Amino acid sequence: MSSTAVIGIGELVTCDGTGPDLLGIRSNAALVIEKGMIAWIGPAAHIPSADTEIDVDGRVIIPGFVDSHSHLVFAGDRGGEFVARMTGQPYDGGGIGVTVAATRDASDEELTRLLASRIDELQTLGTTTVEIKSGYGLTVADEVRALRIARQFTAETTFLGAHVIPAEFARDRAGYVDLVTGPMLEAAAPHARWIDVFCEPHSPHAFNAEEARAVLSAGADAGLGLRVHGNQLGPGPGVQLAVELGAATVDHCTHLEDGDVDALAAVAETTVATLLPGVEFCTRSPYPDAARLLSAGVAIALATDCNPGTCYSSSMPWVISLAVREMGLTPAQALYAATAGSAKSLRRRDIGRLVVGNRGDLSVLNAPSYLHLAYRPGVPIARAVNLTASGETPEE
Ligand code: NIG
Ligand code: FE
Repeated sequence: MSSTAVIGIGELVTCDGTGPDLLGIRSNAALVIEKGMIAWIGPAAHIPSADTEIDVDGRVIIPGFVDSHSHLVFAGDRGGEFVARMTGQPYDGGGIGVTVAATRDASDEELTRLLASRIDELQTLGTTTVEIKSGYGLTVADEVRALRIARQFTAETTFLGAHVIPAEFARDRAGYVDLVTGPMLEAAAPHARWIDVFCEPHSPHAFNAEEARAVLSAGADAGLGLRVHGNQLGPGPGVQLAVELGAATVDHCTHLEDGDVDALAAVAETTVATLLPGVEFCTRSPYPDAARLLSAGVAIALATDCNPGTCYSSSMPWVISLAVREMGLTPAQALYAATAGSAKSLRRRDIGRLVVGNRGDLSVLNAPSYLHLAYRPGVPIARAVNLTASGETPEE
């Protein structure tokens, strides 16, 4: 079986949880990937022989970014809405209906092509694992279609039938919740690992606490893991609900009260607060205080939330630079949250950390140090290492 040696590494950032910053940085190190998995890490001088070699010529190697929150299966464009946000019009989720209409109208081929190009884009920015939600179909057939298409690109698919109440159910919210928790869930569950809900009493389109509880409980009964959109537009019940139901993650956490922070800290082993600073940037919202969360003992992750309404960017390096500039994280804390932290939010140990036995999902930084992720905002220094180019075949 072919193996690949990665040599010439200027700085190997393993994110293995060791050292004062948890980054487990090793100098003069090399690694060997076999069948897509990390088979050896050690001093470059002692590297075992391998079939092929990649020389990164003094660059930095990091774990590929884990983007644990995205909505990439969609058609249509909402650039005008972004302009409205920039001139002060607040986001309330109403624009989701525009994307639902465009997505329902698109063919399978068009949705697949659009998704494939977004996947190419995020890989060229250094991401090697992406979670993808449905949520722009909102009929049984359209939700299943989105999940089937997403499944071609990732194992981390999330059923988000409870994204908003679609227009045809505007006068029958209970009827839509029954559909989502009944036939839609039954059809979607075989194609999804997770279920999510937009729990947001500040949006007339989204779901209140009781509706969200019904959706998440039904999802858990169907064997899906739980994820929650919570506390995005104002203080609300999302965090407490996620904690109570043992969700893997509650995402956004833009508006937190002291009780929310305490509740998240108490369940840090199992429930992660996933922060999405690209959304605050693109909707002109206040940033959550990530440093406060860390010092309270909350487990945090960073992700893009790439979607056409609140953040149309798939750039994890940009998210890292925002987290450092606007949310009080050090570059080390931000990188850890974007790799090991977001892997934890997917309940995965085999990604996000470069240790023997884990997947060989690497990204290379065209820089002398990982600090450049924050130090060079907007500059494309990161890209996923394509091991297939050297004969390796990483397996799903
Ligand atoms: O995570 N808040 C809910 N869903 C997305 C936005 C979706 C959209 O506006 O199209 C989010 O921000
Ligand atoms: Fe989202």
